[in-house]
Amino acid sequence: TEVKKIAVIAGDGIGPEVVNEAIKVMKKTEELFGLRFEFEEGLFGGIAIDEKGTPLPADTLDMCKRADAVLLGAVGGPKWDNNSKELRPETGLLGIRKELGLFSNIRPAVVFDCLMEASTLKPEVLEGTDLIVVRELTGGIYFGEKFRRQGEAGEEAVDTCVYNVTEVERIVRQAFEVAMTRSKRLASVDKANVLETSRLWRETVNRIAPEYPEVELEHVLVDNCAMQLLRRPSSFDVIVTENMFGDILSDEAAMLTGSIGMLSSASLGEGSYGLYEPVHGSAPDIAGKGIANPIATILSVALMYRLTFGYHEAADRIEQAVKQVLDAGHRTGDIAVDPSKAIGTTEMGDLIIAAMASS
Ligand code: NAD
Ligand code: IPM
Ligand code: MN
Repeated sequence: TEVKKIAVIAGDGIGPEVVNEAIKVMKKTEELFGLRFEFEEGLFGGIAIDEKGTPLPADTLDMCKRADAVLLGAVGGPKWDNNSKELRPETGLLGIRKELGLFSNIRPAVVFDCLMEASTLKPEVLEGTDLIVVRELTGGIYFGEKFRRQGEAGEEAVDTCVYNVTEVERIVRQAFEVAMTRSKRLASVDKANVLETSRLWRETVNRIAPEYPEVELEHVLVDNCAMQLLRRPSSFDVIVTENMFGDILSDEAAMLTGSIGMLSSASLGEGSYGLYEPVHGSAPDIAGKGIANPIATILSVALMYRLTFGYHEAADRIEQAVKQVLDAGHRTGDIAVDPSKAIGTTEMGDLIIAAMASS
């Protein structure tokens, strides 16, 4: 088998803890399926600021460019929260997405039946929920010009939100393509009643829609969508939206599954190259305690296998093993109904690996 190069950028807080478990899972698939990986690690985020003076060192970026796929943990923490923009871990994250051209962020939220009790929502509302948020990742207010200035009433801060038609077209096309592989329902989420970028977004969606006549399209205003996600989550299939709305709605969607510790993601460009990371952050409140849920990162590996490498059998095995372990009642603290019975990060990883070998 061809050796695939994996760039590993574990980052800060629980990042290294959950990435460790994901690597264990990948090594298990080498054993079980004859896959072959070469792992290379790079400094990224807060730890890179401390050791190299920048959140995205050039050698880390080069390593990612040379790799076939990137596995990322999380970045950030209180230590760097008051730093200027250039010396923030989050700036490294935005930089790597932009530099690698990863404009499309796929965030699936699937409700495991056995985890319904872990959600704060009622089981009858959650039943059958299986949706994907397709989030635009390299444009919008995150990347527009930002500055401070003196205004008449004192200091002002400005964030600009810009989208060009090409940026909207490519993400909308990807979302239609994703919808075609699923139940063929697409909700485009915007704030077209107020924002000019949203009006361009909606016009573009409507122009592309006739290319996909089989897809049932609805436009939903973002505030209404935030509400509908809790009212009728199972009626959504694919949600496509701009960068900041997608950030917020995907964390909301996480709670449908029981925990943000369950949500995986893939960041893609035009080709099959991708960066894979959990949706959650560095969780400073639980970092170093060995109690973080590694499932989001482990499920991100399954996404990597499907979307970058086409290793579907191995991806199936990982997803089945996760389900099997959850069905057997094993829980990390974030999804535990009885926290006194919660297991730790490495125990969860070990159980998943054991289930992979036995199924
Ligand atoms: P967070 O996602 O790190 O944590 C939110 C809450 O969820 C916390 O209570 C945390 O303990 C819990 N949580 C998150 N992941 C978990 C897991 N795997 N298992 C169990 N519990 C989990 O969000 P935050 O607290 O708003 O941000 C913390 C830092 O992370 C900030 O510096 C932020 O900028 C950064 N962040 C980074 C990323 C990323 O690297 N992709 C994403 C989000 C936030
Ligand atoms: C995410 C995170 C990042 C984002 C932050 C840390 C910059 O919240 O990946 O969802 O907003 O994109
Ligand atoms: Mn986020």
